[in-house]
Amino acid sequence: MDHFNYQNDELYCEAVPVAQMAREVGTPFYLYSHATLRQHFHAIDSSFEGIDHLTCFSVKSSANLAILKLFAGQGGGADIVSGGELYRVLKAGVDPAKIVYSGVGKRAEELEYALRSNILLFNVESAQEISALDKVAGRLGKKARIAIRVNPDVDPKTHPYISTGLKENKFGIDIREAPGHYARAAGLANLEVSGVSCHIGSQLTRVSPFVDALIKVLRMISQLTADGIPIRYLDLGGGLGIAYDDEEPPHPTEYAGAIQEAMRGENLTLILEPGRVIVGNGGILVTKVIYSKSTREKNFFIVDAAMNDLMRPALYGSYHRIQHVAKPGRPKVVADVVGPICETGDFLARQREMEAFEPGDLMAVMSAGAYGFSMSSNYNSRPRACEVMVKEDRYAVIRERETYEDLIRGEIIPDFVK
Ligand code: LLP
Repeated sequence: MDHFNYQNDELYCEAVPVAQMAREVGTPFYLYSHATLRQHFHAIDSSFEGIDHLTCFSVKSSANLAILKLFAGQGGGADIVSGGELYRVLKAGVDPAKIVYSGVGKRAEELEYALRSNILLFNVESAQEISALDKVAGRLGKKARIAIRVNPDVDPKTHPYISTGLKENKFGIDIREAPGHYARAAGLANLEVSGVSCHIGSQLTRVSPFVDALIKVLRMISQLTADGIPIRYLDLGGGLGIAYDDEEPPHPTEYAGAIQEAMRGENLTLILEPGRVIVGNGGILVTKVIYSKSTREKNFFIVDAAMNDLMRPALYGSYHRIQHVAKPGRPKVVADVVGPICETGDFLARQREMEAFEPGDLMAVMSAGAYGFSMSSNYNSRPRACEVMVKEDRYAVIRERETYEDLIRGEIIPDFVK
């Protein structure tokens, strides 16, 4: 359920015509629906009403301050993976007591920043990180609450680049070896062992891998308890998929039902780190057709958004629906939608049947709210697009379009370069 709908063949975001915003802010731009974001957050959060839980929005999926603020206002916490994300969430007003910090390569400065900010939980991913965190916490005279991120070796059946819980992946500590690491961490003066975390992958379209991982984790928790290491937090990560095309991912209530069923009788606080399922279908990328051209082999629509704006098709071969902002009623063609970047990998859609586009037409690239803007870059010296949020009949730019001056900010030509 989202709020990007047609009225008389004109695409609207809530009550605002997309074409009007394109005229006023220019193209390309990312467009988010406040109502959709709020509803999707609520759909996840309320599905777990039956148990003690905390929904920590995964900031990497969409990191704009306005979006972070919206979820903080709904009582949400944040799942962060860098000092930069910590900076953002604190600026947006997220309660530090609701922040969890994952990632295999946290630097000492980042650990220190997070400790000083009094975050809830460090999801530590290696023996060396455990030692490093103990040391930094000792220096600051603080105790760091930790969860060990375990790798349960469960196949999430998703794209290999976004599978994280297989034994060949770099993430976490092998679940069979984790108890030994817990025992060592429990003996360190500046750590408070309080959780277990696990994240097996992203864009999962079935519930069973989540449940398989959960069962393995619960088994380990009872072993830890028996060994005198009580666990309070169980962080199950994110990963629930969305429909980009014809996928049929489980509804949040189905996902939550299966998890709650497996956790029945446990005395744990469940932490969730959803990203895509909340923002994925809450945002679109609006672009304008610059030219069209046909070779003997193919038709191309060349648009003003490119792989630097939306990297997912180039990187994962992922699918985003292509729609007209104003349906023209033209015949259908099979075409590639490509950007101006000098790479063959610069495409937003390939060999897709669509109503023909003409120069000047606006195009909506759907389901771009997650890992869209947050993965964008300045490749080919392209200023990043602006971001816009609609609430009912109002809209606001929530990140300005970058300028050429922004592109060279911080660059220095030293004296020895003549
Ligand atoms: N927690 C951890 C530890 C993660 O690594 C991730 C995503 C999440 C939570 C959120 O997962 P979600 O609920 O959004 O599936 N750029 C890729 C996705 C990378 C996901 C990385 N980790 C894409 O565009 O599909």
